[in-house]
Amino acid sequence: MDLVKDYAYPLPINVISYMLGVPQADQARIRVWSEAIAHGLGLGRQEPGVAEQIRAFGEYIVQLVADKRQHPADDLISQLVAIEEEGDRLDEAELISMISLLIFAGHETTSNLIATGTLMLLDHTEQLDIAKADLSLVPAVVEELLRFNGPATIAGPRFATEDIELAGQQIKKGDMVIPILKSSNRDELQFTDPEELDITRKMKRHLAFGSGIHMCLGAPLARVEGDVAFSTLLRRMPNLRLSVPRENVNWHFTLSSQGLISLPDAF
Ligand code: HEM
Repeated sequence: MDLVKDYAYPLPINVISYMLGVPQADQARIRVWSEAIAHGLGLGRQEPGVAEQIRAFGEYIVQLVADKRQHPADDLISQLVAIEEEGDRLDEAELISMISLLIFAGHETTSNLIATGTLMLLDHTEQLDIAKADLSLVPAVVEELLRFNGPATIAGPRFATEDIELAGQQIKKGDMVIPILKSSNRDELQFTDPEELDITRKMKRHLAFGSGIHMCLGAPLARVEGDVAFSTLLRRMPNLRLSVPRENVNWHFTLSSQGLISLPDAF
């Protein structure tokens, strides 16, 4: 199988679609739009066709909201529509933007956690064996995979509210600072042997989900999905192994995320 296409991608999109009430038949289109948005997110990037894809995604959400207004169901979009209709807590533009964000943020990153995390375990077979022998370690495995090679490269930009000095750098009030999460998660002042994957480490707080008021809203859901994905994989496919040479595994990078294009495996 290709673990990206056959496992890591379908699981999170199924979960978020089910929670929100997005029809399953639309998932293929959502994947195309999500990839376009992920590309469009690079600072200063303007790739041809991206704006149209983003517009098409927006129009799709507007239509979906209109359908839910007509036919409310037991799902999150219908609940958000009800809140919007109640009055001043959420307006239509915020509703559309929130749903787009939840669909987009709710699957791309988690798919990357499952696929990249699997590759990291296949790269570190001694760690994989420890996890397989004791599945109660899986939540710790997920945390270590988030720290060691989490899907989000950077958090959203921050703006200094006053002049500060940070690690010898002068930052002026109003300057933009982009936190590099991957660097902080390998901080030798915070973690012992940060370059080692160690699923048994006593984890101190990592920053794979960001920090502060904009910390990832979906972190608890992503953690549950990670637990389910890795426990199931280790239990059902204990002989999982790469079916291509390691150097043929290809990555895709954007400014804010990284993931695998495919992960051909035998099991
Ligand atoms: C492993 C999976 C995930 C990772 C690594 C991840 C990572 C992040 C990061 C780094 C941020 C920015 C935090 C900051 O700027 O401080 C963020 C924000 C956000 N994430 Fe996630 N995320 C994941 C899964 C999810 C899921 C499953 C959802 C939704 C169901 C979600 C929804 C959001 C939302 C709505 C925000 C914006 C929060 C705000 O600005 O207040 N994420 N995420």
